[in-house]
Amino acid sequence: MRKKRILSGMRPTGKLHIGHYVGALENWIKLQDEYESYHLIADYHVLTTDLNTKDIYNNSIEMLIDWLAAGLDPEKSPMFRQSQIKEHTELALIFGMLITVSRLERNPTLKDQVRDLNIENVIFGHLGYPVLQAADILIYKGEAVPVGEDQVPHVEITREIARKFNNQYGEVFPEPEPLLTQFARLPGIDGNAKMSKSLNNAILLSDDPETVKARMRKAVTDPKKIRKGDPGNPDICLVYAYHKKFNPEEVPDVDAGCRSGTLGCVDCKMRCAEKISLFLEPIIEKRKYYENNLNIVKDILSEGEQKAKITAEETMHEVRQKMKMG
Ligand code: TRP
Ligand code: SF4
Repeated sequence: MRKKRILSGMRPTGKLHIGHYVGALENWIKLQDEYESYHLIADYHVLTTDLNTKDIYNNSIEMLIDWLAAGLDPEKSPMFRQSQIKEHTELALIFGMLITVSRLERNPTLKDQVRDLNIENVIFGHLGYPVLQAADILIYKGEAVPVGEDQVPHVEITREIARKFNNQYGEVFPEPEPLLTQFARLPGIDGNAKMSKSLNNAILLSDDPETVKARMRKAVTDPKKIRKGDPGNPDICLVYAYHKKFNPEEVPDVDAGCRSGTLGCVDCKMRCAEKISLFLEPIIEKRKYYENNLNIVKDILSEGEQKAKITAEETMHEVRQKMKMG
């Protein structure tokens, strides 16, 4: 039986954090046998919020190294830059004709970014972010899209565009489904619902044990629990959320200790930091290998780009045929 196809991607902003792993990357790794996967470095999408391109290439390589170090296998799934496959932009142009401005203005992800980044005037490319993302997904006929929760509205827009195209010109595209992880969102160490480097509340996949401890020491906990002995409420504490992910065996113990007061926050954080570092150890090890063999990383990228290009060209050919513009 034919394997279903996955397309997923991330914007290259440099090294990844554990929120990227928990929200998406872990799922990519898990699904790479069951599905035929394509993994995209969304370097054009970065321009929607930052026109400075001097770090884009290095950031793409850093992100690719994290993908590989975490366990994505280039033999199974091509990894490539959006900017190198021209068909993405070609299809995005056509898709731009199939969706209204008002639909794009209602995109909640855009609204959040406009608010968080204090954007006064939205550029055309930012409004069209989901249109390019739809092209990313559909040029590979992606049927499933493993992403974090914040990307679900973009997958919904992709489905609408696929439907519209198919109705207008004939059946070409599947209607992709989002695939969420169990922990689609890991809070930041400041308690913000989202972990992000720009909010300076992240633990990186490449952070050594000392750095992880230092970051965890600053983590915000239940404000009513001031010293050991005070009872706390783990449900409102992000450290507890991290325990659930990285230290599941001790969760009942942490829960009971926190509520009764016998567990102090400093101990609780250090136990958690240790488990996070234990999880990161093999990733850091593998990262060193790739850092020392950058030529291998670059080869992986160029092979991925060649493979992706073949599929993208096939789809674009079909699109042109259906549109009688072949
Ligand atoms: N918008 C995604 C993000 O910010 C990145 C992305 C671009 C993407 N194209 C994609 C994700 C296609 C999934 C599929 O994380
Ligand atoms: Fe959070 Fe642990 Fe402190 Fe409870 S004991 S408030 S779970 S850090």
